[in-house]
Amino acid sequence: MKLRYVFFCLLVLPHLHAQNPRFLKDVLSFPLGASVNPRMLDENMTYRERAGSEFNSITAENHMKMVNVHPAADRFDFDKGDEIVRFAQNRKMRVHGHTLVWHNQVPTWMKDFQGDTKAWEDMLKLHIQTVAAHYQGKVAGWDVVNESFLDDGTLRPSIWADHIPDYIAKSFQWAHEADPKAILFYNDYGQDGKPKKMEAILNMVQDFKRRNIPIHGLGLQMHISVQSSNAAIEEVVRKSAATGLKIHFSELDIAVNPKNNPDFVYDDAAKDEQLSKYLCVFKAFQEVPVAQQYGITTWNIGDGDSWLRGYFKRPKEYPLLFDEAYRPKSVYRILLQSLKKI
Ligand code: XIL
Repeated sequence: MKLRYVFFCLLVLPHLHAQNPRFLKDVLSFPLGASVNPRMLDENMTYRERAGSEFNSITAENHMKMVNVHPAADRFDFDKGDEIVRFAQNRKMRVHGHTLVWHNQVPTWMKDFQGDTKAWEDMLKLHIQTVAAHYQGKVAGWDVVNESFLDDGTLRPSIWADHIPDYIAKSFQWAHEADPKAILFYNDYGQDGKPKKMEAILNMVQDFKRRNIPIHGLGLQMHISVQSSNAAIEEVVRKSAATGLKIHFSELDIAVNPKNNPDFVYDDAAKDEQLSKYLCVFKAFQEVPVAQQYGITTWNIGDGDSWLRGYFKRPKEYPLLFDEAYRPKSVYRILLQSLKKI
């Protein structure tokens, strides 16, 4: 009896385990990431445990952005970003840098900056190169420029667009000079269903290739909803992958209550709709050639942490793979079963 038990434990159990992986990350051919908040990593042990066990890539949700790392013209503050890097290094996880240049979360001193083109260029270059040099060898890649195009494909007006001609290309060059090994991404949202925006991004990539501007990846944020069109998602993924660049679904969440209906109930029908959208997204990513798969990153971990609840004040939103208590939701479990290789 005892011997049989030993036999079972040694030979059968590991096999069963291999057929029944516990973690979604283990059935994927690419890194699964989450954005995180350092205060939550400090204060909530379940959050910390989930971040470390469920994901193999980490993005700082806010703490590598301009407003946080460069609070005054003559002062950088890397403390919180460094905490995230240490958390990841201790667990051999990849860190993705987000984001060097954006029109949002810009410190007041930058908004108030006065100077000619050269002064603006020097200011942005110093920012990019100081941050990229600080994290050199610690991050695998950077969202160099975030959200530069409007939905109609025109350049978004911003302090950068207003003061620095060709600022996107220059930003990539400066980032590359500071960290030549980093994989450099252009990151944006809403390419699906916004053909002009997609076209503008693809034109930019062609132009950068012609001019030898170092760009290596496209981040598709994927802040989508159950109403997003599968065909549109598949099309933008195909078109983005056709550039040959690495592809990152960089900020995935799938809203179930996009109109913020106060009476919304996250019932079985809503969960089914969300599941089929998650399946569409993961399957579309699996169609990207493996060498181009940088990974899928969800925008935070549990539904309770989602920016859709906090930033957009939509309390009845359930966009992620884990619930408020960090239990894997049914969408997580079915994704794991459906995506594992048989
Ligand atoms: C959001 C964060 O989730 C919020 O906590 C913050 O208040 C605002 O920014 N696109 C991006 C992310 O590239 O940086 C944004 O993150 C969400 C939209």
